[in-house]
Amino acid sequence: MNELDQLVSSAQADFDVAPTPAELENAKARYLGKSGRVTELLKALGALPFEAKKARGAEINQAKARIEAALQARREALAEAELQAQLRAEALDVTLPGRQRGIGGLHPVSRTIERIEAIFASMGFDVAEGPEIETDWMSFTALNNPENHPARSMQDTFYVDLKDEQGRWLNLRPHTSPMQVRYARAHAARCAGMDPMPEIRVIAPGRTYRVDSDATHSPMFHQCEGLWIGQNISFKDLKFVFSDFVRQFFETDDFDVRFRPSFFPFTEPSAEIDIAFRSGPLAGRWLEVAGSGQVHPNVVRNYGLDPEQHIGFAFGMGPDRLAMLRYGIDDLRLMFDGDLRFLQQFN
Ligand code: PHE
Repeated sequence: MNELDQLVSSAQADFDVAPTPAELENAKARYLGKSGRVTELLKALGALPFEAKKARGAEINQAKARIEAALQARREALAEAELQAQLRAEALDVTLPGRQRGIGGLHPVSRTIERIEAIFASMGFDVAEGPEIETDWMSFTALNNPENHPARSMQDTFYVDLKDEQGRWLNLRPHTSPMQVRYARAHAARCAGMDPMPEIRVIAPGRTYRVDSDATHSPMFHQCEGLWIGQNISFKDLKFVFSDFVRQFFETDDFDVRFRPSFFPFTEPSAEIDIAFRSGPLAGRWLEVAGSGQVHPNVVRNYGLDPEQHIGFAFGMGPDRLAMLRYGIDDLRLMFDGDLRFLQQFN
């Protein structure tokens, strides 16, 4: 191997071990730089006679071309290695499972209320919402509760430390019945002068509060009020509407309905509505599902309507209890504990 071949393979070896582009450029300088070995050889040509210069020059240029080719090959190899390293670092494993976000769902009581709303909406009932902090007049007086009625007592009703315009303590509504009054009064005002007045058909679901807490009572619970007022609405209509609701809600025809005489100040006559399934896990047991009755003339008057002209019924039921019956839940407190192990079963 002559001296130029040696120079080429020495350059080749130096380039091949250069680990980075910067070190490769340093190695290049040692051969092709201003005082590099190839440059020195070329400078030395000047001392040679013309013919020898020509031959030697050609040899050196050939060696220089091989060194430049080796340099270029190493540059490309390093660039390629860098690209591969970068690709590896940025690699995305599309087979990894995604990070899961918990998916929320509706609370069983919300589901139940939506279900009640949909069924009554299909029977032409409007859905109304109203305040949870009520005046004494709306919660009691308008509903024909006598002054000394036990429902007004501190043992049953939560009061708020604020007074209304009549100087009476505001209350956390103990039932949704004030919504009968609010809705009917707005309807009566809106329809003043119309003859006949369009019927009132509304349900009002929402939160209600009583001083009570055990396996079947919660200080916060839900009710859904129903009201149907027209020219000639009777218990027969109530029985039909309520039975149809039960049929749709529980998805069965296999049940009996009974009206059991009861008392509410705002209805006369009044009845508890009981249902009994003829089959299934609850078969044969009478279950109380709603209070109801023909709206008392005093209450119709408080709607701003003439009880001689407007008659109908109201009912109030508990979505919490309906949800418990539908899903087979035996403790009301589970509904409001917020335990995800319980709640997730409904999603
Ligand atoms: N408001 C009554 C209660 O809380 C239920 C009810 C509503 C009864 C409408 C009759 C008519 O128990």
